[in-house]
Amino acid sequence: MKVDVVLGLQWGDEGKGKIVDVLAGRYPAVARFQGGPNAGHSLQFEGKHFVARSIPSGIFREGSINIIGNGVVLDPIEFKEECGNVAAMGIDPKSKIIISKKANLILPTHRLLDAANEAAAGKGKIGSTLKGIGPTYTDKISRHGLRVGDILAPDFKDRFEKLKQRHIRQLKDLGFECDPDKEEEAWMEAIGFLKTFNLTDCEYFVNNLIESKELLAEGAQGSLLDIDYGSYPFVTSSSTTIGGVCTGLGVAPSRIGRVFGIFKAYCTRVGSGPFPTELFDETGEKIRQIGHEFGAVTGRPRRTGWLDLVALKYAVMLNGVTDLIMMKSDCLDSFEEIKVCTGYKVDGKVTEQVPFETNAEIEPEYMTFKGWNKDLTGCRNERELPSEFTDYIKYMENFTGVPIRIISLGPDRDATIER
Ligand code: IMO
Ligand code: MG
Repeated sequence: MKVDVVLGLQWGDEGKGKIVDVLAGRYPAVARFQGGPNAGHSLQFEGKHFVARSIPSGIFREGSINIIGNGVVLDPIEFKEECGNVAAMGIDPKSKIIISKKANLILPTHRLLDAANEAAAGKGKIGSTLKGIGPTYTDKISRHGLRVGDILAPDFKDRFEKLKQRHIRQLKDLGFECDPDKEEEAWMEAIGFLKTFNLTDCEYFVNNLIESKELLAEGAQGSLLDIDYGSYPFVTSSSTTIGGVCTGLGVAPSRIGRVFGIFKAYCTRVGSGPFPTELFDETGEKIRQIGHEFGAVTGRPRRTGWLDLVALKYAVMLNGVTDLIMMKSDCLDSFEEIKVCTGYKVDGKVTEQVPFETNAEIEPEYMTFKGWNKDLTGCRNERELPSEFTDYIKYMENFTGVPIRIISLGPDRDATIER
């Protein structure tokens, strides 16, 4: 069987949680393969609301297996809290979650280092979620990290202490005032909780599973935040693009099936970094308000702007997207005009390529569509969609060369049209 993949194609917050929850009804297993609690995947169903951060968004589907892969960075404290929220909704997390022993652990001092790095960067800060993501992946790559499987070792406390001392030296170096012991007790308690879960050699588990079952891999963040292909250094520290699925779960490229690429009908970004189509006017504010564009993890107001097709086509290329999924076009229902960026003017020349230089002065070239001016939130069938709307999506399909298979018209599971 194949591993199908859901990937965000923008700067995160595309609505991956909703779509994974919708699709998870068809997949017996869902796996996270990268990122950590920097993700905030909102699920809404049967009048309930939940934000998944480390736990895969399949958790509320009956009988589902939810895998936390080796490419993920796991914060035991956050995980315990999230499991508590799941349990409060009547689901037993222990019976549904499998965790890779090779996933790296986020320590309290990783979080402090994240804050220290940001403070030291001043105006040049990334605007990170302060969840310790960057420092944890740094330790992983520099071969200093602690992994989930290590918690079972008799000398785990010594290994923890060694890494903590290393962090204390780094924090001192950065001149960051803090109490490195503050969260330690809660963290150790959460490690005890983590031990009660099914901790496995996940690459074996996953490969055995896909012998007979289909798996859905759930991306976090988005392609434009990828460590290699995003607007470096204003990125996250993991591979958010397709290759991350193979390294983050231990599956071969030949096992990858459909690649669902999710995008919003406009763009948002939290944190710093280039955003060519960003709007600083009333239109940007209107999008923010109608789209409730405030961070699910940090509550920060998101920067907003028109859809950027140059960036979208780039993400489609990088990931080999087979099916596009468009989110939140209903948020544009009341706009007279709707714009999409079809080219970048850089140094007086128009290009369809994303430039290397993140500081490049980019002037977006726009195509303007007449708004459909109709409330689409109740639509459940393609035939009910106005012609202005179908013209708009046809244009995007032609531009990217990929069909839009799912149109989401509201946060609820049911507000979805499949084509
Ligand atoms: P989901 O999965 C949106 C952004 C941060 C910051 C940069 C680096 O909900 O789409 P990090 O904490 O990862 O070191 O921050 O990446 N960022 C996200 N933005 N959605 C996310 O996740 C994000 N995860 C990280 O705002 O600019
Ligand atoms: Mg988010």
